[in-house]
Amino acid sequence: MEKIVSLCKRRGFIYPGSEIYGGLRGTWDYGPLGNELKFNLKQEWWKTIVKEREDVVGVSASILMNPKVWEASGHTQNFVDPLVECKICHQRFKIDEKEQIKNHEEQHTKKKEKIDLRQGETSWTEPKKFNILVETKLGVVEGEKDITYLRGEITQGVHVNFKNILNSSRLKIPFGVAQIGKAFRNEITPGNFTYRSIEFEQMELQYYVRPDEKESMKQYDFWKKTRMEWYKKLGIKKDRLRFREHAKDELAHYARAAWDVEYKTPFGWKECEGIHHRGDWDLSRHQQYSGQDMSYFDEETKEKFIPWVIETSGGVDRATLFFLIDAYCEEKDSSTKLGTSRIVLKLHPKLAPYKAAVFPLLKNKPELVEKARKIYQELKKNFEIAWDDRGNIGKRYFSQDEIGTPLCITVDFDTLEKYDVTVRNRDTMKQKRIKISELKDYLNEKINV
Ligand code: GAP
Repeated sequence: MEKIVSLCKRRGFIYPGSEIYGGLRGTWDYGPLGNELKFNLKQEWWKTIVKEREDVVGVSASILMNPKVWEASGHTQNFVDPLVECKICHQRFKIDEKEQIKNHEEQHTKKKEKIDLRQGETSWTEPKKFNILVETKLGVVEGEKDITYLRGEITQGVHVNFKNILNSSRLKIPFGVAQIGKAFRNEITPGNFTYRSIEFEQMELQYYVRPDEKESMKQYDFWKKTRMEWYKKLGIKKDRLRFREHAKDELAHYARAAWDVEYKTPFGWKECEGIHHRGDWDLSRHQQYSGQDMSYFDEETKEKFIPWVIETSGGVDRATLFFLIDAYCEEKDSSTKLGTSRIVLKLHPKLAPYKAAVFPLLKNKPELVEKARKIYQELKKNFEIAWDDRGNIGKRYFSQDEIGTPLCITVDFDTLEKYDVTVRNRDTMKQKRIKISELKDYLNEKINV
């Protein structure tokens, strides 16, 4: 993890939030490359969930919502974490973070730090409940500002618009509404880099189905399988992915059933995405709290009902982190006999921040630079392309491997006569001559795998 965190900072993927002021716990900023990676990931999600389907539309709801939304959704009451506090240093942990609690105790033991305890007493307080919605105040007059919340999940922006979406489209059940956006949680123990942050992005699908056990489970199984396949198709190693079912006492207040897609990180198996059967929780609660009719009328069967919801809820930041971890590798550089090693981000080409880099073989030969610039400008119209003319070719390859650029294109003296270039493959390190006129097709073929 240390190597990945360091690479992310050094190469402009992810920086600590507000770093020059000492940072802000649990917040992260995406640099130029991280921003591209995250953008590509969201694009891929949107393409599979919305663009390629007839039954899913997308929305973009406000982060700030009427506070009644959170009463109706159950978050003001149920979005709580039971915490225990260390009596020695007063640090708080979620009660289910057993490993962290054990490590914390060991640290105090190592430093021989303890407090006097009465018989039977432990060094932890009794669990106390803590709501993790982030409060904010709206209004201009001090003392008269209204308290509301930054959304704790992006989900409710979809459900409160259920009727608007129905009335402004021709959607018929079953159908889905997708959204990508920021959510905020006052996490007690943010950590493991971006894994648990205070501010993060979610990519969610709310899929409305008939209130029917058999039909809803069929859809549930379909989405569960589809979401797992998505990660695999984008190249995550299969043996680092698994499903985990939530135990009954672990289920969120809205869930009838929940399975997580988990990834094997250096800090253990961790949740990447949740597939939840939300039943009629959201729509019936909004109907009850708003007094508005949230039912659906089936024109064919003439039935009126509150639909059930199957939700796929993924974290953009978590997925970005897991793709980075999965792609990171250190290996021998077999292209030289020097026994040197290289760091490579073997990101799927669709996710890679740059699809190719263009180099002139020599920086001080204007004819090579001019030709290379032309190719660069031309390819840039269709792809994300990097330009590099620093150092020697070996260093440029090293630098592009480290950020996951799948192809490096070198313009040399032969280019000027034969109108072709050397294209070097990031993963195999093999080189090939390709005609300039065929470069665009070649790139398309290599990216859209
Ligand atoms: N609408 C359902 C919902 O929000 P969740 O399991 O609480 O369900 C869904 O969150 C996903 O959001 C998680 O699987 C994770 O990827 C991401 N997520 C949740 N809390 C997060 C945090 N503090 N930091 C980063 N990502 C988080």
